[in-house]
Amino acid sequence: MRDFPAAALAQDFIGLDTRYPLADGRITRRHYLDSAASTLTLDSARQVADELLRHYANTHSELHFSARIVSHAYAWAHQQVLNFVQVDPNQYTAFFAGSGCTATLNRLARILAAQRPERNLVLVSLMEHHANDLPHRKHAGTVIHLPLTGQSSALGAIDLTALERLFKQHQGRVNAVAVSAASNVTGIVNPVHAIAALAHAYGAWIIVDASQALAHAPLPISDTGAPERQLDALVFSGHKLYAPGSPGVAVVRRSLLDGQEPDEVGGGMVDDVSLTGYQVTPRFPDREEAGTPNILGAVQLGAVLNMLQRVGMAQIHAAEQTRLRQLLTGLASIPGLRIYGDPDPDRTPRLGTVAFNLVGLEHGLVAAVLNDYFNIAMRNGCFCAHPYVRELLKPELWALELDPDAEDVARQLKAWQGMVRASLGLYTTAEDIEALLAGLRDLQSRPDYYRTQYTMDAEGNFHHRTFTAPAESLFDPEAVLDRINSPGQFSGD
Ligand code: ALA
Repeated sequence: MRDFPAAALAQDFIGLDTRYPLADGRITRRHYLDSAASTLTLDSARQVADELLRHYANTHSELHFSARIVSHAYAWAHQQVLNFVQVDPNQYTAFFAGSGCTATLNRLARILAAQRPERNLVLVSLMEHHANDLPHRKHAGTVIHLPLTGQSSALGAIDLTALERLFKQHQGRVNAVAVSAASNVTGIVNPVHAIAALAHAYGAWIIVDASQALAHAPLPISDTGAPERQLDALVFSGHKLYAPGSPGVAVVRRSLLDGQEPDEVGGGMVDDVSLTGYQVTPRFPDREEAGTPNILGAVQLGAVLNMLQRVGMAQIHAAEQTRLRQLLTGLASIPGLRIYGDPDPDRTPRLGTVAFNLVGLEHGLVAAVLNDYFNIAMRNGCFCAHPYVRELLKPELWALELDPDAEDVARQLKAWQGMVRASLGLYTTAEDIEALLAGLRDLQSRPDYYRTQYTMDAEGNFHHRTFTAPAESLFDPEAVLDRINSPGQFSGD
């Protein structure tokens, strides 16, 4: 594998020069600061997938050239996953499922509950997004939410002392601990390997949602190599790792899956089927991947992982931390701006995600102004992590003193219950961050002007009174089809 310079990788993304028209008549380059929702696409990975299309066939066919090529590429993608998190393939398997981490987490929640029904308690951190919370609520008997260190808006990572207390209190009942390696709201990092050691000391398993971490920092299955610090299952989403269109991924200790009928059944996971029964193959990952897989998505994901390894995750992490500090310092210098989660990255490590509010301005208004006037793409709201966001916002929501009987209380709550989030990727530049800071300063200096430009709907969303740029005017799939199929394109025309 040839090394690759980090600076060159940062340029290898599709959409770095995407331009949109703005409310003040300018047409400028988009500043994409929504990588925690979905990252941009690594172009060389897409090219690998495009080239594979020339050979496209089904992995369940085995004999012809194309089937062999595609099966080889699909197996290569699995190998990239195992290499990336440094696991022993005899101990762990990697399988693809669904279109994000949600399908894999639902599957794991069902599998773990079935393995040890007598242990009917799962500990879920308070900072989880819904994908690593609701499946456990549905499939485990009981879920207890783990407290975090710190207080309200300055909450930190999982409180290990409180975690140990819960293990002691519920000795023999805790089946698993489910935690994110990093929060999708604050970017705060959990000490997952220390949590693994604690969980294992009490006979519990650990499931780690690495969706917000794997593209940003090294995350091996064990940090020291010690077996007790090994994660039992790690899941992630390709669309948060520069490979949109890829399936979700699970890396799981084989012993958790062995001896149990796979959760999903169908073609490709059986050795033989008669009218009265079927024989599940012992082969991993085949037994966990019923049906024709998302081959192109998986190969694109494998290509991304391969490229990230050529640069080195330690280097990628260091570069992102430089940008993160630029962002945190800049945000802290804006009066009336509140950063959520412990804002000191030396005390509480975080990856490149920061949620904030401008005091007195609704998150929807801030996000709309930044998009419409400054071409900054960010997400606002509760980021599919409602309990965590509410906890971080507690003092502010109390201070609102909303009248529960008021007619528009739901609308008011939607307007104030949420945050704006800036999240970084490999391609984020100092200029992107400066553009965000400049937009926030301008908004801060003349909030009344901006407020008069917008109306708020019943959902708490803000709409510009005069400026519209409908999606279909910016991108029309039919127009693209007309263009590429215009007369003269085919020799028969
Ligand atoms: N979990 C994704 C986000 O944080 C959808 O935006």
